[in-house]
Amino acid sequence: MSKTATLEYNGEKYEFPVTIGTEDEIAIDIKTLRANSGIITLDPGYKNTGSCESAITYLDGEKGILRYRGYTIEELAEKADFLEVAYLLIFGELPTQSQLDKFHDDIRDQAVVDEEMKKILDSFPKSAHPMGVLASLTSALIAFNPSSVNVSSEEDMYKAIVKLMAKFPVLVAWTLRKKEGLPLDYGDDTLGYVENIAKMMFKRPNKEYKKNDITINALDKLLILHADHEQNCSTSTVRIVGSSHAGLFASISAGISALWGPLHGGANQAVIEMLEGIKADGGDTKKYMAKAKDKNDPFRLMGFGHRVYKNFDPRARIIKKAADDVLGNLGIVDPVLDIAKGLEKEALEDQYFVDRKLYPNVDFYSGIIYRALNIPTEMFTVMFAMGRLPGWIAQWREMRLRNEPIGRPRQVYIGENQRAFVDISKR
Ligand code: SDX
Repeated sequence: MSKTATLEYNGEKYEFPVTIGTEDEIAIDIKTLRANSGIITLDPGYKNTGSCESAITYLDGEKGILRYRGYTIEELAEKADFLEVAYLLIFGELPTQSQLDKFHDDIRDQAVVDEEMKKILDSFPKSAHPMGVLASLTSALIAFNPSSVNVSSEEDMYKAIVKLMAKFPVLVAWTLRKKEGLPLDYGDDTLGYVENIAKMMFKRPNKEYKKNDITINALDKLLILHADHEQNCSTSTVRIVGSSHAGLFASISAGISALWGPLHGGANQAVIEMLEGIKADGGDTKKYMAKAKDKNDPFRLMGFGHRVYKNFDPRARIIKKAADDVLGNLGIVDPVLDIAKGLEKEALEDQYFVDRKLYPNVDFYSGIIYRALNIPTEMFTVMFAMGRLPGWIAQWREMRLRNEPIGRPRQVYIGENQRAFVDISKR
């Protein structure tokens, strides 16, 4: 493969080095383009533009491949637990038992959130969307952990990372319990990481907490499946905010806000609302398929399509099977699951979807499991954020350790040329 690429424009030739990744992805390195030619590139949505080199997650959208640090998502979902995967994503290797135990102990030491934070939570109306609450609380953590802001050494980064891995699940649980009008608690540091999240979320003040392995295993798998996904919208947000050295907590808070959008992580909530709407409308999936294809109708089939996957999202396959298993184990029959399967079948046979390579993505079935676990619909994207936390952290750490430059894209100006000011009396 050639190691250089040539751009020819206006009779001039410009040569650029070519970077080839470990999975043979080819990129033209245009770092010198504007300095040498005065020309920039234009790529709305960055569909063709790499923002960085990264060693964390590999996706092959055409083949439906997803690997974290070289391990397939299928193996990790089957054989690892979420904290182990978090360690792998952040530090690059699967931990030994003693490394994992130390990581967990360091997290347990930081798993108390300042009581003053409850006053911030209390200031929100119950109607507040949990993603807005979580983004605000994550940013508010900065005020109570100032040493986590200006971190430049690996050691200081580790301390900030452990604080966030410890306190974020508490904020997630508090966000849920605030909505449900339940007292806030701190869980139990004798439990596993995900079991503790489940206990903080689901424990009722008047009942003894009973461990439910089905719930914990389902949550653990869902969190692993959401843990990272290379340079998606929210991760790119975390990286660009982090590139100004704004600090880890501020960068993650920005990522939460980006994930909230219905075109991104907010889709898991939008999918269930869509499926409920179809159910309420008599379950006529054909009508909604027609709406999804109608260019004059803003309706899209939520949970379908993906910027990168032009084949099945491997996570959707795993989640679809997990939905059957969890509902079966819990003895739940959810008509919405049947509507989802009917829609999937129709879409996979429909030319519009086939031509555009639109397949179910990670958000299409995940909400059905969350519902079966009695997680309110508005909390679905918060669960996505809980899963994505280690991925965001890993990407932020990689960006800072590689001393990446501050993100600052260029633009093509299409506004007015210079013109003289006109006094208001003459306008
Ligand atoms: C996530 O990037 C990541 O990795 C994200 C994520 C992660 O783990 O971080 O995987 C998580 O965000 C998954 C995606 C969740 N969003 C949804 O399910 C919302 C519904 N999907 C679409 O809005 C859309 O598919 C996107 C936003 C996901 C992708 O949009 P693109 O890549 O910009 O594609 P596009 O909008 O240019 O669509 C191409 C064509 C268009 O039709 P034409 O103009 O070519 O005729 O496909 C059509 C679109 O109208 N299309 C759909 C559709 N998705 C795309 N038509 C109907 N229903 C849909 N869902």
